[in-house]
This record gives sequence, structure tokens and C-alpha cells, in this order.
Amino acid sequence: MARRWRILLLQAAHLVIRADTNDVPTDPRQPAVLPELAPRTTVARTIHYLGSKLRLLAPIRRAIESVAPQGRPICDLFSGSGVVSLALASDWEVTSVDIQEYSRVLCSGLVNPPADALDEGRRLRDRASGGPFRQKLRRCLNPLLTHERHCATDALQGDVDGLCDLLEHGSLLALDTRGDIPPLLHRAANASLRELSKRGLASGPATVVTRHFGGRYFSWEQAMDFDTLLAEIDLLKDRERDFHLAAIFAAASDAVSTIGKHFAQPTKLRDSAGLPKLHLIDRTLRDRETSVYDRYIAHCQSLGERHRGSRRHRAVRTDYVEFLESDTTQFAAVYADPPYTRDHYSRYYHVLETMALRDEPEVATTKIRSNGVPRLSRGVYRLQRHQSPFCIPTKAAGAFEQLFANVATRRTPLILSYSPYRAETGNRPRLLTMDELLGIAQKHFSQVESIPVDGVTHNKLNLLDRNVEVDYAAEVLITCRP
Ligand SMILES: C[S@@+](CC[C@H](N)C(=O)[O-])C[C@H]1O[C@@H](n2cnc3c(N)ncnc32)[C@H](O)[C@@H]1O
Repeated sequence: MARRWRILLLQAAHLVIRADTNDVPTDPRQPAVLPELAPRTTVARTIHYLGSKLRLLAPIRRAIESVAPQGRPICDLFSGSGVVSLALASDWEVTSVDIQEYSRVLCSGLVNPPADALDEGRRLRDRASGGPFRQKLRRCLNPLLTHERHCATDALQGDVDGLCDLLEHGSLLALDTRGDIPPLLHRAANASLRELSKRGLASGPATVVTRHFGGRYFSWEQAMDFDTLLAEIDLLKDRERDFHLAAIFAAASDAVSTIGKHFAQPTKLRDSAGLPKLHLIDRTLRDRETSVYDRYIAHCQSLGERHRGSRRHRAVRTDYVEFLESDTTQFAAVYADPPYTRDHYSRYYHVLETMALRDEPEVATTKIRSNGVPRLSRGVYRLQRHQSPFCIPTKAAGAFEQLFANVATRRTPLILSYSPYRAETGNRPRLLTMDELLGIAQKHFSQVESIPVDGVTHNKLNLLDRNVEVDYAAEVLITCRP
């Protein structure tokens, strides 16, 4: 038989690396702190992120320590929300890599914060909230702001239709497409749009959050506050700009009124029969009352205080293959956390991408349930969104093959995070099974070790023998040595 897999599934308790999640606050509004880490590596949540490794930072650090001496350069491939980069930055020199610009901004801002983050944040907030741009915007949006206040007051008194309509039909872009917008909202939106046009604000990046996402993801009051802060941040450069944008993303993640705090689609406040989902009304009202300026300042403070050593860190926006083929750094280890379901990150975080790129993207339309006439997509998605091969069933195996092959060519240890599918938990199906994944790893690395990190005690011998039923943990770290 060709080289047999050398898989060590470490079952004994002392070898199982555990992440104790018991003390992590469950309220998504509170920054989660992992108590078992030493204070200097304590990491708060940056944004609510699908597949975030916030709760697994201790085992990830230990796995990296087992292959890479502290102080050496390491790579956080698929860096997402930046929490792993931040947790490693105190002891290693970190290069963060992700295909999304919002991730580059987050990581760059987190690992290289400016010295006077909080003071600068307060100055920016004061200019944004008291400056002429906000006054102008407020005047234009007055009809909509008044309308949304009435809807909130009505909802508190039990009449929720207006609020439901805001989340369903909000977005000034909807006026350009098919007009099934309820009359009161339509009138207020038209009046505001006319005012924006008169002042040259009806297109362009300066009002993109207000026009694209106001109504659906944020209240118009919140959307306007984001645009005013973004205008100020746009005047900054390099690491200052990245840091303050990162604090804005964290504020957007707090404020957005969606169930998972992502941006895949606005909350549906009505069920398929058109009846309001009353249990979501309170929460939606609370989200829409969240103060953007206050959350931004709170994040300037919490993100600015984190310790990340004095090493040189960098964040790069690029495709993983392109990076591995072109970057010449001698990494002591590559930590990789690629997507493992069909969900494209570019759909879940398109709002942050638009804030990061500060452009006026073309948006997707749909003909579903609109008699063949194109109308604005519910999620107001950017048309050009990255489609990751890891999320496409026919391409996922090839994508992993390229990942293992490219890291192995560099003769660098690879630590891969994976979350095997367990049907009984009802989570999203994975595109590759653990067996398939380990099979690819073994083709390229001489030693492959798979370690459960979810705190579950496994009472089966997890040998990769065809005859043995394998009970994988919800999260594993696969350590591959050349
Ligand atoms: C599971 S998430 C990473 C989560 C991250 N470790 C954290 O804790 O926040 C996967 C990431 O892979 C990125 N990604 C997807 N396809 C990519 C590609 N072709 N090249 C680089 N990054 C990619 C996504 O943008 C996403 O941020």
C-alpha cells in the first residue's frame, strides 16, 4: 500500500487540547473574553463573524507554539475577523492574508493600532456629529427620519406594519426599481431623495451607506452616522485609517438588525403568510436604537488597548494561492482557516466590504416573485463579489489540494482549522469529509496529526481505519509537518 496515513488522533485527556468556553458571555452585544488566556493575549471580539475562532485561541496558540518558536514570522491565512492574528501578534511576527478588503483593514488596524486611538476617535466623532455634512444630510433625510420615528413609536404601541415595511422595502435604491413600496414610505423616500439630488448627494461613496443600507440593515439615523464617520476617516492615511475603519466595522456589527449580526439579508419581520413575527420586534427596535457614535468610541477604546508586541506585522488582501506562490517570507508556520460550507463570506459581509472600499457598487437585482421584472435584491448585494472555491462543491477538494501542496512546497508546518460535519447538530453541511481532507493532507506532508479542540471527551478510538466508526469533534486542529 502506498504511504500509509500517519494520523495521530490524540485521545488521551492530557493530549486533548480543550477550549473552555463556559465563561464566554453569550450576549452578542458584549465583547467576549477568553478567560484562560494570559492577560497579554486576551482578545475581545472584533466583529460577529461566521466561523470566528475567538473561542479557540488558546488551543490555536498552543498548536502554533508546538511547531514555531516565538518571535518568528507566521502566517494567518484566511484571517477573517482578525482575532487569530491579534492573539498571535504579541509573540510572533504576523502576516494576515484574506481575499476581502474588510478583513485586511480589520487585521491591519488590530495588529498595528495608532498610539492615540481613543483621543483621535473622540475628535473624529465630534467632527462627524457636529459638522456641516451631518447637518446637510439630516436636512435631506428629514422626511425619512420622521417617518421611521413614527414607525418605531407605532411598533411600541403594537402597530408593527410600518416597521416591517422599513426592513422589507427600505433602501433608497428600491425607488429606482419596481415600485411595490407602501405609500407613506414611498412618499418620505421620494422627498428625501429629491433633497439629496438637489445637493449632489444622490450618488457616490459619500452617502452610500445611507442610500444602500439605510432602512434594511440600519435605521436611517444610524446609516447617516456611519456616512459622517466614514467621511472623516477617509481623510486619514494607512494604519490610522485602518484602525478607525476597524472600529466602525465593530460598531456596524453591533448595530445591524439581523439575526446572526451578519449582512446576508435583513431580518424578515413577517412570516410566509405575511403575519408579523412579534418575538423579533423588540430586538429589532433595540438594534435600531444602538448609538453608532457610542459604539464606535467604545471600540476605539477596547481595540486600542490590546497588547500586540512591538513586532512588525502586516495584512495583505489577496487570494491564498497567489500569496503562497509569490510571497518569499520564510514562515515558521502557516495557520489556515479556510471556509468549509457553501456560504460565501462575500455575501455575509458585503456591507463592510462597501465601507472598506468606499465605492458605489452596482447592486444585484432579482426577478424572483416580481413577474419577471428585475427588482432590488433583498440583501442589496454588490454585484462583484468573490466566489471562493472552498464554498463550491465541485472546486472545494481542488482548493484544499492547492493549499496543502503550496504550503508543503515551502517546507513549512501547516496548522489547519476544520469543523467536521455532525448531522445530529443540524449545522451546515461541509463540502469535504474529514477522511477526504486528511487524505489530501497526507499526500503532501509526512506527519499529520488531528486534535479535537472542542472540549468534548471522545470515548472511541479515533483511528482512521476504514472499519472504525470515527466520532469527530466539532472543531479540530490538523497539524501537518513536512
Ligand atoms: C472561516 S473564515 C476565517 C475566520 C478567521 N480565522 C476568524 O477567526 O475570524 C474564512 C475566511 O477565508 C476567506 N477566503 C475565502 N476564500 C479565500 C481565498 N480564495 N483567498 C483568501 N481568503 C479567502 C474569507 O474571506 C473568510 O474571511
